[in-house]
Amino acid sequence: MATADIGLIGLAVMGSNLALNIAEKGYTVAVHNRSASRIDEFTAEAKAQGLEQNTIPKYDLADFVQTVKAPRSIIIMVKAGKPVDDMIEQLLPHLEPGDAIIECGNSLFTDTQRRFDYLKPKNIGYLGVGVSGGEEGARHGPSIMVGGSKDQWHNAEAVLTAIAAQFNGESCCAYLGEGGAGHFVKTIHNGIEYGDMQMIAEVYGVMRDGLGMSAKECAEVFKKWNQGPLNSYLIEITGHVLDAVDDQTGKPLVELILDKAGQKGTGVWSAIVAQQMGVPATAIEGAVAARSISSRKDERVAAEAIYGKPNRAKTDVTLEDLEKALLAGKIVSYAQGFAVIAKASEENGWALPLATIAKIWRAGCIIRSRFLDQMSSAYEKGEAVNLLVVPDFVAIMKDSHLSLRKVVAAAATGEFPMICLSAALSYFDSYRQGQGTANLIQGQRDFFGAHGFEIEGRGSDLHGTWPSTLGK
Ligand code: 6PG
Repeated sequence: MATADIGLIGLAVMGSNLALNIAEKGYTVAVHNRSASRIDEFTAEAKAQGLEQNTIPKYDLADFVQTVKAPRSIIIMVKAGKPVDDMIEQLLPHLEPGDAIIECGNSLFTDTQRRFDYLKPKNIGYLGVGVSGGEEGARHGPSIMVGGSKDQWHNAEAVLTAIAAQFNGESCCAYLGEGGAGHFVKTIHNGIEYGDMQMIAEVYGVMRDGLGMSAKECAEVFKKWNQGPLNSYLIEITGHVLDAVDDQTGKPLVELILDKAGQKGTGVWSAIVAQQMGVPATAIEGAVAARSISSRKDERVAAEAIYGKPNRAKTDVTLEDLEKALLAGKIVSYAQGFAVIAKASEENGWALPLATIAKIWRAGCIIRSRFLDQMSSAYEKGEAVNLLVVPDFVAIMKDSHLSLRKVVAAAATGEFPMICLSAALSYFDSYRQGQGTANLIQGQRDFFGAHGFEIEGRGSDLHGTWPSTLGK
């Protein structure tokens, strides 16, 4: 008998937490997993949390599908890549026209688009949904970025809207566009997440090595900053990470953790797609590059032996400079991220609602932060060609870019790497100057390749008379 409102396959951490969240909101969820033992563990957990009456464990896939009310909405929460394609193939024989697969992992949006196109003629809906907020978010309220088959979206809308985080009573779940739109937006969310994390780490480097602050002292500063304009989840958790003490040694845990950052791909995808569309996203690119350099620990250690330890004399930047530099850097980075989304919307015909995206990022997701509310208002007014020219943000940038400048300059002379903050500053300086230096690039291009250049009032495919360098 079909009694479940929705089905969910894949009971690893994120999947189980989403299922428990659905059950808690009063919906009945049928669950299935490849390994039966995981289903048993989930059932025990649901029982422990008093939610077993809203969960229906099913060990057999056909039986699982039959348990879900038609037209069916079936969430799959398996590893991105081939496991998703395999799962679709396994499910297909059991589905009926009008049913939908709702894939909630961190999939590459072009894969999502391909799967959407593949299932459309079969009349099976495909929704690629970005879910942000980690384990806790999945359990208590993530930010949910929906893309794909709009008709089938309405079947699942009530459930996903109910389980999402809320900001001032509004659900942080929204349908954003066709095909791969939801996963695209989630990817750029992650790119921005990379930028935020890297900029925070760069500021921590100055605190630790330039200002000689202990982890505990740094933690206190981040906690204080979280009360001000930088207020955000990532600033908040940075305070907690810096505060944590290792049980075995009594030392700050952060000082024992190896300085090699992992990455699963979404940052790289963001940087690639931005480049492909000709949208500068230097903060994301910088953050991805910084993670890659961090992972080359052996090479770094060897290079340090050659050049000697960085000469980190005490710096004269203040904590206030660092706070403002971080704010300015973050605004530049978000401006870039939204510009990437705007361009992708245009190229793919998605009509992505930028104000809504900023709104559903105000709670639940990893990049939730106070200024996203201001960003959503800017987009609601339709003001934003680029956030850097929206009055609210112009005011913040005017107040903070001098600090960003001071911090980046101190980093250069003090031998601190600052890939992301310096990239943000250079972008700002490039974007706000009416006269740049690409005139020289155009001259060079014409010199060696007759690529042509433009002179105002004289035409756009002009050529210079250049001296020959042959034989010299
Ligand atoms: C989120 C996160 C999450 C992501 C991790 C790991 O929004 O909840 O973005 O989806 O998987 O942050 O990403 P990396 O391993 O690439 O850092």
